[in-house]
Amino acid sequence: MTELHLWLRHEPRTTERRTPVVPADARRLTGSGVRLTVEESPQRIFPVEEYEAAGCRRAPAGSWPTAPRDAVVLGLKELPGEPAELAHRHVFFGHAYKRQPGAAELLRRFAAGGGALLDLEYLVDDEGRRLAAFGFWAGYLGAALAVLQHRGRLAAPLTPTAKDDLDAELRPAAGDEEFTALVIGALGRSGRGAWTAFGTAGVPVTRWDLAETRDLDRQALLGHDVMVNAVLATSLVPPFLREEDLDTPARRLRTLCDVTCDVGSPFNVLPVYDRTTDWTEPVRRLRKEPPLDLIAIDNLPSLLPRESSVDFSAALLPQLLAFGSGAAWGRCLDRFHQACRELGIVEGEWES
Ligand SMILES: NC(=O)c1ccc[n+]([C@@H]2O[C@H](COP(=O)([O-])OP(=O)(O)OC[C@H]3O[C@@H](n4cnc5c(N)ncnc54)[C@H](O)[C@@H]3O)[C@@H](O)[C@H]2O)c1
Repeated sequence: MTELHLWLRHEPRTTERRTPVVPADARRLTGSGVRLTVEESPQRIFPVEEYEAAGCRRAPAGSWPTAPRDAVVLGLKELPGEPAELAHRHVFFGHAYKRQPGAAELLRRFAAGGGALLDLEYLVDDEGRRLAAFGFWAGYLGAALAVLQHRGRLAAPLTPTAKDDLDAELRPAAGDEEFTALVIGALGRSGRGAWTAFGTAGVPVTRWDLAETRDLDRQALLGHDVMVNAVLATSLVPPFLREEDLDTPARRLRTLCDVTCDVGSPFNVLPVYDRTTDWTEPVRRLRKEPPLDLIAIDNLPSLLPRESSVDFSAALLPQLLAFGSGAAWGRCLDRFHQACRELGIVEGEWES
């Protein structure tokens, strides 16, 4: 069997400080005979020197197009617009299988170059469960930001931080008013993160998942001061909140954090807003009196780059060690071919 060559690329998005492989796991890979090249990256939370000390070779930022053709390029978020033809296998979140803007163009670049997308969102076990995900920290951040906003202590713009510093801000201070929180999707990764953060903040939390929303009690929902939505909706369900619910006089709800951020999708359970918020303006007021504030940020885990990278890398490591033999990667590749077929894209041959 040929030696696996992984190539960890620089992320072009300047706010993206996370990495799919941290230096401690890089050492496990190189120790297992994997060749690992790591691009220099000014914003990555771990300096390239730590990877070098773990037995990795260093390469300039963005040099992956010149990597040997059999190298597997590893990243998290979008590729730069060039080169037009992608010749390598790339592991990252492509967001290209649900007809997102730019999806067909990205797949065409792969088809033109003979490369392939191994999308991390579709790296799943035999039962379809995601093998590596950032959900826990998305939920943790979502609830943390909601608490800070509710207490009048959320400062914008948001900047990446560390968990200890975030927790210090979250702990209740003398004079803080008590309030209640609801997490929907509480049994999932993001949901668990959300109620863990409410625990740190000393906020009593109600947990709902599928069983509790089957016959939705909107009055009970509106009776909480803060709500975090963390569901993964895969079918049409009645919305948790509608415009008219926001105008219910008995509404206690003041702060709403939508971790799911399915805005625009037919599965959206919170069709009460039309665009997400971001790090510069994390909060949007949906109602003036009584106030209702919305937080709907779609890149929450990037705000805790170290912790989220460490967890993600730990989950990805066994899959990387099984690259080439694991059934999960086969499913990933099948999904890529299926997406190309659905769009009528004819693929070139990947020789090696
Ligand atoms: N905002 C961000 O930065 C960010 C980051 C990561 C993930 N996400 C999103 O967060 C969502 C949750 O991700 P996850 O990894 O926690 O998923 P998950 O599969 O681990 O958990 C989802 C949970 O939602 C529950 N659920 C589904 N439909 C429900 C319903 N109708 N009522 C109540 N509960 C329901 C499921 O039973 C499950 O417990 C996804 O949409 C994901 O894309 C957002």
